[in-house]
Formats: sequence, structure tokens, C-alpha cells
Amino acid sequence: QDTKALQVAVVGTGYVGLGTAIMLAYLGHQVVGLDVDQEKVEMLQRGELPIYEPHLDQLLQDSSSRLRWTTDYASAIPNADVIFICVGTPPLPGGQPNLAYVADAAQSIAQNLNGKLQVVVNKSTVPVGTGDWVARLIEEYAIDYHANRYLVVSNPEFLREGTALGDSLYPDRIVLGSDSPAGIDRLVELYQPLLDQQFEAPAYVPRPDGYTTPQLVTTSLSSAEMIKYAANAFLALKISFANEIAGLCECVDADIQEVTRGIGYDQRIGPQFLSAGAGWGGSCFGKDTAALISIGREYGYTMPILTAAVEVNQRQRQVVISKLQQHLHRLKGKRVAVLGMAFKPNTDDLRDAPAHDCIARLADLGVQVVAHDPVAMPRARQEWGHLRYQEAASAAEAMRGADAVIIMTEWDEYRQIDWSSAPRGMRNSLVIDTRHVVPDNCTMGVVERIGRRL
Ligand code: UGA
Repeated sequence: QDTKALQVAVVGTGYVGLGTAIMLAYLGHQVVGLDVDQEKVEMLQRGELPIYEPHLDQLLQDSSSRLRWTTDYASAIPNADVIFICVGTPPLPGGQPNLAYVADAAQSIAQNLNGKLQVVVNKSTVPVGTGDWVARLIEEYAIDYHANRYLVVSNPEFLREGTALGDSLYPDRIVLGSDSPAGIDRLVELYQPLLDQQFEAPAYVPRPDGYTTPQLVTTSLSSAEMIKYAANAFLALKISFANEIAGLCECVDADIQEVTRGIGYDQRIGPQFLSAGAGWGGSCFGKDTAALISIGREYGYTMPILTAAVEVNQRQRQVVISKLQQHLHRLKGKRVAVLGMAFKPNTDDLRDAPAHDCIARLADLGVQVVAHDPVAMPRARQEWGHLRYQEAASAAEAMRGADAVIIMTEWDEYRQIDWSSAPRGMRNSLVIDTRHVVPDNCTMGVVERIGRRL
């Protein structure tokens, strides 16, 4: 690799920070990952990952000679040409993102800048204006302040959990927003191997067929900040739209899958993010739609389209329960298997997972819930202690003796189940399939789907 190696510091080792740090090291840069959480840093120093993401362990191994981990700003920041802020921005009760971690990071970075040209890059999803605020914090806290040497760039992240590596190595676009051209130039240098695709694609994350190079989009600082929110809000909107049409399909006896297939070939619409289901989940769509609405509110600007998308999503979370009630009537005392707890497959992330609401509601209705997830059960033990459910060691065990099974996450493992006959030991062969896992030609018992009348 003939990459010009830069010194990079990545502050925050959550999903985005870890992916960014490891990917940049893979591309040839010297990277130090920093987190204030000592336990996480110790894990990473032992070569263990605090999260599950397909192939990230292999990429970590392949890049380990160019990576180190620390809790110490003084050892990470002074030598860095580029410093990424990748800390969390969890929602506050009113929907606004909590920027306390960004402020802490900016302040600690500022106190350790070295007087040479250094670029601070915001990758955390933050409201418009945060980049300017970070620049002001740097000005306030830098020991030796140099306005034209400490530059701030917004470089939003568009990777999805579960496919983070492919999304990072083969992105559609790289967005760089800054009011200083020198900041953009340094980031272009950093991303050159990605922009030209001049790196050896790892065998475990091959370059997709037909993929050439990403589009470079350079903008002002505030436009880049807005692009991130607008992208997530638009995707959330697409899903809510598909869910709304799915409900109507059930009324008029149409099939949402046929409908979305039929509209998706229109290139202006596109086939992606039109899968109807139990509503979107994860750490991003809920947080980012709420943030946009709350930012609008600050300016006295209403956002009726987004507000409706959020409402549709909330209603969608109830659809599973209504379907179950239609078939089983009184749910009290029934035994229901829930397959899939993670908010989507190939991750152990449980944040805002539709399965959480489903399990909570069923337990409230007196249902005995037996849940299974191929990867997320250990995390659920820690994070879902407040929910009443039993764990099953396998999908088969969850379904044994159940009156119904609800598929909440489209794990491959669930697609491998032989759905042509009722799963062994089920008391009643009722499947509520929210993720189109059960094949269409399946003739067993009753299979209820979202957006298709039985
Ligand atoms: C999302 C965006 O897709 C990324 O581009 C963005 O970088 C990321 O948020 C972020 O802001 O960090 P992610 O939350 O990892 O990524 O997951 P998605 O694949 O977008 O799925 C979100 C939710 O929507 C899941 O619950 C999924 O099941 C649901 N979904 C997705 C649907 O219900 N239908 C669809 O057609 C697609």
C-alpha cells in the first residue's frame, strides 16, 4: 500500500468510533483509539471487541500493527494530524441530543493540541451549529490557540450496523463539510485510498460487483451536519411510508411485497428501505427524527411529515399484538415464542428494538414469553433485566409448547428453519412473521404477515 500514512486519533470507541479507527488503520494510517471507559480500552488492548459486528475482529487483526488504544488524551492528541470525535449523542427526554460527551471530548482535545495544523473532525450525529460550537470550545480551551491551525470538519457517517465494514470500505459518498479548505484537503488526503479504491479489498469484505469509487461531496460545515439528519430522516420516512401502505394493503386485500416491488423499479423511488415490518428500531432513526423535530421546534418550525413518520412507527409497533389477539383472542396465560431480539440481524444491538416493545406488551398482557436471539441474548440479560421473559437456548426450544411464534428479526438462522410443517411441539401453528422469513409457499398452519391479508 502506498498510502501517505497520517497520524489519527479517534475519540469514542462505540460502533462508529471502532469502525472508523479500525478501517483507517486498515487503509494504512497510524491510529490511536481513545475512550474514557477504562474497561473498554483494556478489552481492546487485549485484542477483544466490546461489540459484535461481522468480520470486525478479522479487520482488527489485520490492522493491529497500526492501532493502539488508550484512555489518555495527552498520549493520543498532540501527535495526531486528524482527530475524530465519535462519542455518543443519546437523546434527552425532549428529543434533543445530549451533547455533553461532545463537549467533554472537544475540551480535552483542545487542551492537548500541539500548535501545528490539526483537524478536528466531527463524526457524531450532531445538530447544525455544533461544529461551530466545537470550534469555539477549542478556542476557549486550547492552551496555545491558533485560529488557522485548528480546523473543524464535519464528516458524517452513513454506515449501518451489521454491514458496517462494507459500508465503510465501499461508501456511496464521502461528505466533508468545513468552512476551511485546508481542513477538507487534509481529509481528502486521509480518505485518498477510499476515494481511489487503492487498497487491497479484504477477502472477507470483497468489493461489491460494479462498485467503482465513492462520490466526494464537499459542503459548508452546517450543510454536512444537515445531510446526516436529512439522510436518516428520509430513510425512516420511506419505511414509515411502506408501513402505512402495508396497513392499507391489508384492508383492500393487496400484498405490500408485490406493491413495493412494483414501485421500487421506478428509479426515482428505488427498491431499498421499503420493507414493511414492526417499525424501524436501532439507535439512529428514532433519535435523529426526534432531534430534527426538536430543532425545528426551537425555531418555531413544524415538521409535519417527520412527525407523522414517527407516529406511524409507533402505531406499527402495536400491529404484532393486534394480529396475535385476532387469532388467540385472550392472550393471558398463553405461551408465545419471540424469535429475534436485536433491532436487526447481524448485530447484538438492542437499542430501541421493536422486540423490546413486543415482549414488554405481551408480558403486560399476562403472556408467558420465551425469547431467542442467536447473538443478542447475553446483552439482553444485562440491558433487558426489567422485562419478563424466559430465554431459550435455540429457536426450536423457544417454539416448543408455544401457542404462537413471532419473528421479530430476520436472522438467517430463522430462514433455515423448515417452515413447511409446524415446528415440532408447537401447541398451535400460528406464526406472525414481521420480516418475511417464512417462504411464501409455506402451507403450515396460519402465517400472518405485515401488509398481506391472510
Ligand atoms: C442507519 C442508517 O441506515 C445508516 O445509514 C446510518 O449511518 C445509521 O443509521 C446511523 O445514523 O448511524 P442502522 O440504524 O444501523 O443504520 O440500521 P438500518 O439498516 O438503517 O435499519 C434501521 C431500522 O430500520 C431497523 O430496525 C430495520 O429493521 C428497519 N428497516 C430497515 C425496516 O423496517 N425496513 C426497511 O426496509 C429497512
